Amino acid sequence: MGFYFEKGRLFCDGVKVEEIVAKTGTPIFLYSFDELKARVNDLKQYIDPTILAYAVKSNGTLAILNYIKELGSTFDVGSLGEFKLLQRIGADPMRSVFSGLGKTPECLDAIISNNIGFISIDDPGELRKIDQVASKLSKKIKVLFRINPDIDAKTHKYITTGLYQTKFGMDETGFSRSLQMVKESSCLQFSGIHIHIGSQVGGIEPFSKVVDYVLKLSREVKFEYVDLGGGFPIPYDSKPLGVDIKSIGEEYRKLKNSGMKIIIEPGRYIVGNAGILITSVILNKKIGKKNFLVCNTGMNSLIRPPLYDAKHTVLKLNLSSAIDQIPWNVDNIGNIKYDVVGPICENTDFFARDINLDEVKEGEPLAIFSAGGYGCVLSSNYNGYPKLAQYGVMNSRLIQLTKAEDCNEIVRNDLLI
Ligand code: LLP
Repeated sequence: MGFYFEKGRLFCDGVKVEEIVAKTGTPIFLYSFDELKARVNDLKQYIDPTILAYAVKSNGTLAILNYIKELGSTFDVGSLGEFKLLQRIGADPMRSVFSGLGKTPECLDAIISNNIGFISIDDPGELRKIDQVASKLSKKIKVLFRINPDIDAKTHKYITTGLYQTKFGMDETGFSRSLQMVKESSCLQFSGIHIHIGSQVGGIEPFSKVVDYVLKLSREVKFEYVDLGGGFPIPYDSKPLGVDIKSIGEEYRKLKNSGMKIIIEPGRYIVGNAGILITSVILNKKIGKKNFLVCNTGMNSLIRPPLYDAKHTVLKLNLSSAIDQIPWNVDNIGNIKYDVVGPICENTDFFARDINLDEVKEGEPLAIFSAGGYGCVLSSNYNGYPKLAQYGVMNSRLIQLTKAEDCNEIVRNDLLI
């Protein structure tokens, strides 16, 4: 079910969002567990990978991780902190991937002694360190070599990771050196390659280029697994994406047909549209001809608009026209132009600029859509604002996933000297 408007009223998995807000207050994050399930099912149906490893970095809320685990997914983690979340929910590390760039000795010790399934190697320089830890712990480690294929993901420059000017992966020379080093080690097992060219990939072309690249490489070097990362795009507004999961699955089938086992690491695709941020307007002001809606939270809770020029659909929970629609397909709903902004003392503190809404009164809640991925997880205490409570609707029941931080908790680790 997910989020949808029915006769102009916003629902989450069958529950009216206005009723949720009457109980919880705002600001909050709200998640649809049905949406999580539907997206995991899409991936199983259209891509059918050998290993589906949800990218924890996109949303690491324990209840969400636990639910995704129960749907049969394993995990892609990028740090010791994320690995510890897997331990908290009792996930099987043997089918999970560690793909972080910064592998400290402490982190390697923890993930290797706890039997991580695969470690993605970003540079030949890492291999010696991993070899030392593995031999100290008498473990054999499956390694994937992360390749930088110099392919443009056609996305925002801050979330493109497969071009040579970005810090990720190795070039062909690094790949050959890594292969050589693995041959000389008894603790390292070369299991395959890893390519993640970016997030919110723009169109089918980058996916096709990756597939061609992998096919070409497989004619030169034999490997069992190919980890294709994440990057599957989601809708943020009514503009067509130009690529869907089915066509990506058709591309990836070419790799399966030539005998490779596929790992994918989707984050945004699973959680992105499954979460919204609900905030209330605390001040309705006008400067010159411009109308501003100042909300009770801002870029401290959702930094994507200023950081990535991201467009998130913003709507009232109760629209003037009685439409049945998916939120991000609702355009130009009202006739007043607003900037929807937060309370932070920065001009970058906005959710949406120059958008049309029905008249919004002070105290009214607004929903900011597609905030489930890289939303709460990127939030901060900037300007002294506490982190928000998170709720979800599971089997038509409202449940609390995290408590709101209290203002006093912001300084809980500070030492008063
Ligand atoms: N695998 C690796 C190695 C990654 O670095 C990432 C994301 C993923 C998988 C998951 O990608 P996804 O399926 O979510 O596209 N904060 C940015 C996105 C940063 C992505 C970081 N890496 C944003 O809000 O757009």
